Amino acid sequence: MTHRKIRVGILFGGKSAEHEVSLQSAKNVADAIDRDKYGVSLIGIDKTGRWLLPDQSQYLLNATDPKLIALNRENERNVALVPQSGGELTNLSEGEFRSAVDVIFPILHGPFGEDGTVQGLLKLAGVPFVGAGVLGSAVGMDKDVSKRLLRHAGLPIARFTVLRDGDDIDFGRISADLGLPFFVKPANLGSSVGVHKVSDKSGFEDAIADAFGFDTKIIAEEFVDGRELECSVLGNRDPIASVVGEIVSNHDFYSYEAKYIDEQGAALEVPAKLPDETSDRLRALSIKAFEVLDCEGMARVDFFLKKDGTVLINEINTIPGFTKISMYPRLWDASGLSYKDLIDRLIGLAIERFEREQKLRNSY
Ligand SMILES: Nc1ncnc2c1ncn2[C@@H]1O[C@H](COP(=O)(O)OP(=O)(O)O)[C@@H](O)[C@H]1O
Ligand SMILES: [Mg+2]
Repeated sequence: MTHRKIRVGILFGGKSAEHEVSLQSAKNVADAIDRDKYGVSLIGIDKTGRWLLPDQSQYLLNATDPKLIALNRENERNVALVPQSGGELTNLSEGEFRSAVDVIFPILHGPFGEDGTVQGLLKLAGVPFVGAGVLGSAVGMDKDVSKRLLRHAGLPIARFTVLRDGDDIDFGRISADLGLPFFVKPANLGSSVGVHKVSDKSGFEDAIADAFGFDTKIIAEEFVDGRELECSVLGNRDPIASVVGEIVSNHDFYSYEAKYIDEQGAALEVPAKLPDETSDRLRALSIKAFEVLDCEGMARVDFFLKKDGTVLINEINTIPGFTKISMYPRLWDASGLSYKDLIDRLIGLAIERFEREQKLRNSY
């Protein structure tokens, strides 16, 4: 008996400062996905937010250079996904053309991708998709709201305060409250874009000017002197946690430069050298955070471990970096689930959730 291949749309790129990171993740997924089981359509989103079906055989330019990597705009088709289309892409370009997908794997980081906006569109379209739904995505993206929910659930986080564009912002009061140095970061972003370690008033002014360039809401947070540990969570109803990994950064902190530009910027230690008791604690906290923040499919939960043994949750990423050497897949690989099988599991979880939601009544 032969089955038709499941048509997977890899949705990548996006209208965010993390566009380039997404291009690399998408390429890795497209290269590794089981082609016997899945047919792949690469759907690129450019930096203005337009959806494109690029040339499927050459969808990237400078694919191996993180500084120059870009969507290939030659022979592209402009497409759209409209409500109730069930994965049928609408062609907005000249000429006859049909394309449809059964499930979408969004590999979009940051705003307009990881924050519930795309997830809302995919829900309206009526197509299953990988990862957290609208609420989990939106909450996970927002460092202010996610931290408040974690704190409300009794989970440990660092002290922070929210600053809004236009507020009367007083460096003296913030530094008296949080101590020096402290961190400033946009509420809704990732990849360390707009993140600054502040040690004086002029540094603070530069930091907030930059961070407010990316978001109208930013947070100031106490500096945590600790190891950076990360744990991967996978599942819908009964999520499981991977082994724990460590980021050993060679920069002042785990900056954009350290993450993506400087090849020696940071080392990923998988698994982290930790007492079993500590990694068990981190795994249990990861699953709790995943549930508290209404995640589904996948998430990576990031921690600080202080010298005195205190653990703080730094953040949750609902679409973590997904190249095959990124922490999320590496932690699964070290836990016995290969990159290829991980992709397969995530698509399975997307379809399982979609079918469950399809059974809900919409009239009474
Ligand atoms: N409160 C803090 N104390 C110490 N380091 C921090 C703090 N907040 C952020 N950092 C450093 O900045 C990096 C990026 O911050 P993070 O909150 O993880 O934002 P992003 O979503 O951009 O990854 C962290 O990995 C860490 O190295
Ligand atoms: Mg982070």
